[in-house]
Amino acid sequence: MKRLGIIGHPLSHSISPEFHQAALDHHEIKADFYRWEIKEDELSSFFKTIQDANFLGASVTIPYKEKCLDFLGKVTDSAKLIGAVNCIVNENNQLIGYNTDGSGFIRALKTKHGFNPQSKKVLLIGAGGAAKAIAYSLLKENIDQLTIANRTVARGDKLAETLKSIAPKINSIKLERESLIEPLSDVDLIVNTTSIGMKNGPAPEHSPIPEDLIPRNAMINDIVYNPIETPLIKAAKIKKAPTIGGLDMLVYQGVEAFELWTNKHAPETIMYDAAQKALGL
Ligand code: ATR
Repeated sequence: MKRLGIIGHPLSHSISPEFHQAALDHHEIKADFYRWEIKEDELSSFFKTIQDANFLGASVTIPYKEKCLDFLGKVTDSAKLIGAVNCIVNENNQLIGYNTDGSGFIRALKTKHGFNPQSKKVLLIGAGGAAKAIAYSLLKENIDQLTIANRTVARGDKLAETLKSIAPKINSIKLERESLIEPLSDVDLIVNTTSIGMKNGPAPEHSPIPEDLIPRNAMINDIVYNPIETPLIKAAKIKKAPTIGGLDMLVYQGVEAFELWTNKHAPETIMYDAAQKALGL
């Protein structure tokens, strides 16, 4: 039997095992997908014991997306630039680190929602790990302009500086009403990568941008998936703006990972349905 799994701590909330097992079963691949809830001091011995011919690969989640780089044979250039690995593939007994967060985000945007980011103006809210992966992938799609809005401006500035080597049209602003008015006046895509609006997060009842400023003709994408309809998504729907919820990025980073592990086309709808079911939707 082949083995795959998700590495993280804690993992009780993770629905990756459910949607990956559904995809493996669909293709009749004889493999089990495990929940590897590993403590930090056990990480090194875990990586030593996991690697054999039956180990196909793993997803990596909080808090090990950066830490796991120490245990890998090779890391792709994009994962290196992003500074985080969320997918490990066992290629001829060498562990290779990938980042499919950004590529999964783009795939959901383009193939599921028919939105091509090329030449578009994007407002990215947040400047953490998820923002970095998404920003990098958006810039590779040749967007016209990227504005990073973050509570801590210095962190947004730093991310903008890092990414300037890839594309020059990036600016960083403070996440506040005054500064948002101008970029929101002609934006095509808004992406929330902060935990504002997340259940049990810092501000579960709030939208990261003032609701009255949400433009009706921009695509509104919230990567928060719990709840499935965040205050931002709810407000955008009231304005009749098109929306993308957070479950898409979660499932599509898995879609990209599944294809790296198996070299088979991922059954996207089956994975999405299994994810919804695992969340009780
Ligand atoms: P992740 O890896 O999920 O992106 P992270 O690296 O901790 O998580 O980043 C969290 C992001 O959410 C940051 O942009 C953070 O803003 P700061 O850089 O100012 O900390 C943002 N964030 C979290 N809580 C917030 C809040 N209450 N208000 C505004 N922004 C918040």
